[in-house]
Amino acid sequence: MQIYIDGEFYKEEDAKVSVFDHGLLYGDGVFEGIRIYSGRVFELDAHIDRLYASALALALDIPLSRTDLIEAMMETIRRNEILDGYVRLVVTRGKGDLGLNPNKCPKPTIFCIADGITLYPKEVYERGFKVVTLATRRNDPQAINPRIKSLNYLNNVLGALELRGCDVNEGLFLTTSGYVCECTADNFFLVKGRKLMTPHPALGALGGITRATVMRLADSMGLQVEEGFYTLYDVYNAEEAFLTGTAAEVGPVVEVDKRPIGAGVPGPVTKEIIARFHEFALSTGIPIYGTP
Ligand SMILES: Cc1ncc(COP(=O)(O)O)c(C=O)c1O
Repeated sequence: MQIYIDGEFYKEEDAKVSVFDHGLLYGDGVFEGIRIYSGRVFELDAHIDRLYASALALALDIPLSRTDLIEAMMETIRRNEILDGYVRLVVTRGKGDLGLNPNKCPKPTIFCIADGITLYPKEVYERGFKVVTLATRRNDPQAINPRIKSLNYLNNVLGALELRGCDVNEGLFLTTSGYVCECTADNFFLVKGRKLMTPHPALGALGGITRATVMRLADSMGLQVEEGFYTLYDVYNAEEAFLTGTAAEVGPVVEVDKRPIGAGVPGPVTKEIIARFHEFALSTGIPIYGTP
């Protein structure tokens, strides 16, 4: 494996960042997880836009132009000869001292890893995801805004820890006011009739790129899409539910808190969306290895 760090490529065992890097010491940094389908980068512009937007929210100056950053990422994928997989692009505050003052970190660190990915076995997609509501609440946007895709994922890790020993696939975060927000690493949708419902951006979920793609596809399929403020009452009364994320793609949710959602099997609207999503993912994207 060849890993990019600050302009150089290293073998995995030699790919190291400093213990004084504030990405490690304080979770001070931003990242993107990006999918590669059939030798093409999926939704490249949206991911790069979000990376720069997250960095801007942290007053973190990415020391590469957009073009050079994309080229570094493309070269990482090419060197690892990946046709279908996943890229992790990370920008940290860089090396500083043991104080948290970001102004004492002169140069951000950039690294990029390209690898394969399989988050859940095929059976989970066929049978459907089981989800539980988490006791841990999603970070309040007024404290750490979850719309910033930062290296500070402890809220998500605490949520994921609650799933230990449970026969479920994902956890559902509520906001501190009790509204449905998102899963630990995925956005969340409900379906009623021909209408999709997904938490309003003001609630503080990550602005998911798979979410945005699904919303566009749904529109072109004649489905109504609503962003709103939903409670568990709406979840338990939904006809279908699904989650979206770069790694998980679109996953049907068939059970929440041990209650079946609708018929307790992947629903027809969800299945239609999954089919459309795969069709779209395999037919778009920026070529990595020249014109396909
Ligand atoms: C907390 C959280 N929500 C939602 C998502 C889904 O976002 P995307 O579709 O851009 O991968 C992710 C995945 O990165 C995530 O970490």
